[in-house]
Amino acid sequence: MTTVLGIETSCDETAAAVVDGGFNVRSNAVYTQVARHARYGGVVPEIASRAHLEVLPDIVEGALRDAGADWGDLNGVAVTKGPGLATSLLVGLTCGRAVAYRLGIPCLGVHHIEAHIHALYLSPDVAPPEDGGPLMVLLVSGGHTELIEVDGLRSYRTLGRTTDDAAGEALDKGASLLGLGYPGGPAIEKTAADGDPNAVRFPRGDVRSDSKTGALHPEYCFSFSGVKTALLYHLREHPLDPGDDQRRSDLAASYQEAVVDSLIRKLERALDDYPDHRVACAGGVGRNRRLRERLEAVAEARGRHLILTDPAYCTDNAAMIAGLGGVLLERGENAPADGIRPSWAVGGEDRDEG
Ligand code: KG4
Ligand code: ZN
Repeated sequence: MTTVLGIETSCDETAAAVVDGGFNVRSNAVYTQVARHARYGGVVPEIASRAHLEVLPDIVEGALRDAGADWGDLNGVAVTKGPGLATSLLVGLTCGRAVAYRLGIPCLGVHHIEAHIHALYLSPDVAPPEDGGPLMVLLVSGGHTELIEVDGLRSYRTLGRTTDDAAGEALDKGASLLGLGYPGGPAIEKTAADGDPNAVRFPRGDVRSDSKTGALHPEYCFSFSGVKTALLYHLREHPLDPGDDQRRSDLAASYQEAVVDSLIRKLERALDDYPDHRVACAGGVGRNRRLRERLEAVAEARGRHLILTDPAYCTDNAAMIAGLGGVLLERGENAPADGIRPSWAVGGEDRDEG
């Protein structure tokens, strides 16, 4: 069985983990850089890469210590190769390659979004897709929103994606408009808890067939720019009194409802067309309780098996990197850590690189 050290530095989390056999998480160390970026209202790439450089060695040692493992126990290292912030990816890749070189073991470069999907199988009771049949995965993170059909290891087909903002990005921008700070998703969820989701009806972002969906079915594609603009205009017309906590909660709840409802509608449409698929949700926004409730209701109403990522592995972490790396290593897959790929598309070519 392989023991793999995973390293994740694609954005504002500095993470390292040790995973056995691709699925058994022995440690999962995460340093979140939120405090370093908060005053700027979002992630500052140069601050992120410097912070990775500063804290990664301690995080790696912490992951080994928590796992009760020695350097000599490792059979491989897995690093996030992309997509993500270039200078941040470089720190993790370089560290992983140096460790692997020193130990004389392979270093694997893995896809961050594929790893978010692998996070589904880190829960002990979840079978990998080869064993359980095809999955319809709603992948919702800060940079990506996609409907992905998963048939097995590295067998992915993107059926739909956002034509503008990602769901997490929409929540982050909404939170900023409401004065809730960064990161916005958890702040909106917390504020929404005391609010009325029906207080304001925000648009659900339908994508028309003449939009930029390429070969993808518009009915499976998402759009979140409208909901964000609607909140902006609403606040211009009805400015929010800083002390009006109830209205802020109502707006957060209505906004969250619009984002979640847009996701659910597209997912339902895809499930109608793929009657045998199980349903799954992965990525940072997959932590959201309202989204999880709605997913449970959708799966129950249609009699579909539902897999939700364990909340501990929804947002960026290295257990998902080490896990996927371990499976790739055991199956002898080609996953070179030969360089970073900041714009690596899911299961394919880079979106804006040569
Ligand atoms: O997957 P992730 O950690 O990083 C990327 O790969 O982008 O996702 C980060 C996103 C952020 O937009 C954050 O606001 C959102 O996930 N998020 C949430 C929650 N926790 C994190 N959104 C809604 N509710 C949450 N509880
Ligand atoms: Zn992520």
